[in-house]
Amino acid sequence: MSARGAVFYGVGVGPGEFELLTLKAERILRAADVICYPSCKPGGSSYALRIIKPMLDLSRQRLEGLLFPMDKDFARLIPIWHESARAIVSHLRENRSVAFITEGDPMLYSTFLHVYEIITEEFPEVAVEIVPGVSSLGAAAAAGRIALGQADEAIAIVPATYQKHELKELLERFDVVVLMKVGAVLDQVVEVLDELGLRDRALLASRVGTKQEIVTRELEAYRAKRLHYLTTLIVSKRGVPLVRALQAQAAQARPSENGAAVEPI
Ligand SMILES: C[S@@+](CC[C@H](N)C(=O)[O-])C[C@H]1O[C@@H](n2cnc3c(N)ncnc32)[C@H](O)[C@@H]1O
Repeated sequence: MSARGAVFYGVGVGPGEFELLTLKAERILRAADVICYPSCKPGGSSYALRIIKPMLDLSRQRLEGLLFPMDKDFARLIPIWHESARAIVSHLRENRSVAFITEGDPMLYSTFLHVYEIITEEFPEVAVEIVPGVSSLGAAAAAGRIALGQADEAIAIVPATYQKHELKELLERFDVVVLMKVGAVLDQVVEVLDELGLRDRALLASRVGTKQEIVTRELEAYRAKRLHYLTTLIVSKRGVPLVRALQAQAAQARPSENGAAVEPI
């Protein structure tokens, strides 16, 4: 189980569209002996697994669902994460390579991070390789054609665990705010956006890259509805597009031939 032994891979499988899987992820997933996927209940389904299942060879590769309940009770969760880490290590000890798949990118709010931390601390001999994936942020921004950060804009990325006043502070402080896990709290978020006059600067993106994709600025239509867990809201405070704003600034700063400032474009 050293660098020469079986490797533990953390593999990002992208936001949902098979074509957004990287070539490296595909190569590693085709070769791995065991594919571990996170599931919130025993025998439950996995979004990440659905993305890659068509390319697996299940006559040779073993699938193993690992339990990651949607819970905030860490006294209950931590032993379960340890159990998952031990299950992975037992495969590695039998010289079976293990690929742990995560939706999007493994280094961004993923279940992989919990087992990765436990394995690197408790089993430092394990060789680990992390394969980045296209994150849902990039996919949502591309689908909605909204910049995550242009020029010197500052971005905040937060899960929907904030209080109303914290969200207000974030929206005041940052140029772009990405709210992950927003599906269950959209109504509260819209209230804050309205208080700050920012509702028309927000883009809602749900299950991007799937047939159920929703990408919209019409937040009203989704109020009082429980949206899917895979839903993100991007708020970009920029009103005038950057290049146009810079052109206008430059024109204002440049005096005309008769000494008056040139009209902004
Ligand atoms: C536990 S985080 C996982 C993030 C993931 N590791 C990534 O890189 O995108 C789950 C959150 O990511 C966002 N998300 C993941 N997939 C998405 C998708 N296909 N469309 C929109 N948002 C998505 C949602 O905000 C969701 O609540």
